[in-house]
Amino acid sequence: MAGHTLDGSVVAVVGASGALGSLIARELADRGARLVLVGRDQERLAGVPIEGASTVVADLTDAAAGDRVVQTALDVHGRLDGVVNAAGVVAFGPLVDTEDAVVEELFMTNVIGPLWMIRRVAPTLAETGGFFCNISAVVAEQPLPGMVPYAAAKAALTAADSALVRELRRMKVSVIDARPPHTGTGLADRPLAGTAPKLPRGLDPQVVARRVVRAIEAGESEVGSAQFA
Ligand SMILES: NC(=O)c1ccc[n+]([C@@H]2O[C@H](COP(=O)([O-])OP(=O)(O)OC[C@H]3O[C@@H](n4cnc5c(N)ncnc54)[C@H](OP(=O)(O)O)[C@@H]3O)[C@@H](O)[C@H]2O)c1
Repeated sequence: MAGHTLDGSVVAVVGASGALGSLIARELADRGARLVLVGRDQERLAGVPIEGASTVVADLTDAAAGDRVVQTALDVHGRLDGVVNAAGVVAFGPLVDTEDAVVEELFMTNVIGPLWMIRRVAPTLAETGGFFCNISAVVAEQPLPGMVPYAAAKAALTAADSALVRELRRMKVSVIDARPPHTGTGLADRPLAGTAPKLPRGLDPQVVARRVVRAIEAGESEVGSAQFA
C-alpha cells in the first residue's frame, strides 16, 4: 500500500492519554497532522500538550465511540485521514486465578472495542484513502504463560488486522498492525489484575512511537516485534 502524507492530515489517536499514545500523537503533530485525541478522561486528555488538538471523551468498550470520533473529526477539521489505536489494558497471573470480569475486559478493550471502532471509522477513512493502525504486542507472536488472556486478545487483534489489510484494501483504507516488544511505559505496573513477572528492560517508548509513525508514512502493513530494535 502507498504511504501516507501526514502534513495537513487529520488523525485520531485512541488512548492518547497513555504513554505510547501521547508520544505517537506528538510525532504525528510534529509531521504536520492535526489531532483528535481520544480517551476516557477529559483531564488526562487536556494534559497532552498538542496545540489545536480536539478531544473526544470515549470508552472503547462503548460501541458508539467510533461514531463520536468521526463526528468530531468532520465537525472540527472537515476530514479524517487516519486512526491510531494505542489504547489497551494488561493483566497477569494464571488463567484459573483470573476473574471472569478481567478476562472480559481484556477482550473488550483490546479486541472488541477496536473492531467496533474500525467498523464505524472505515467508511469515512475510505473518503480520504486513510489508515487504521492498531498497537498489538509481541505476545501476539509469542504468547506467554502468566498472561494468557492478554496474549490471546492481542493475537486476535493481530489476526483481525491481517485479514483487514486485504478486506479494506478495496476501500483504499490501509491497516497497520504494530507489535512492539516490552516497552518502558509503566503499563506492566498498572495491570487490571496480578503482578508482572520480572521483565527485561523495556524499549524506549519514543523509539517505539517513532517506528509506528514511520510505518504509517512508509505504507507498511505490519511492524513485527523484531522490527522495533
Ligand atoms: N508498554 C508495553 O510494554 C507494550 C508493549 C506492547 C504493546 N503495548 C500496547 O501498547 C498500547 C499502549 O500501551 P502503553 O504502554 O502506552 O500503556 P498506557 O500508558 O497505560 O496507555 C493505555 C491507554 O489505553 C487507554 N485505555 C484503556 N482502556 C481504555 C478503554 N476502555 N477505552 C479507551 N481507552 C482506554 C488509557 O486511557 P485512560 O487515560 O482513559 O486510562 C491509556 O490512554 C496498549 O495496547 C498496549 O497493550 C504496550
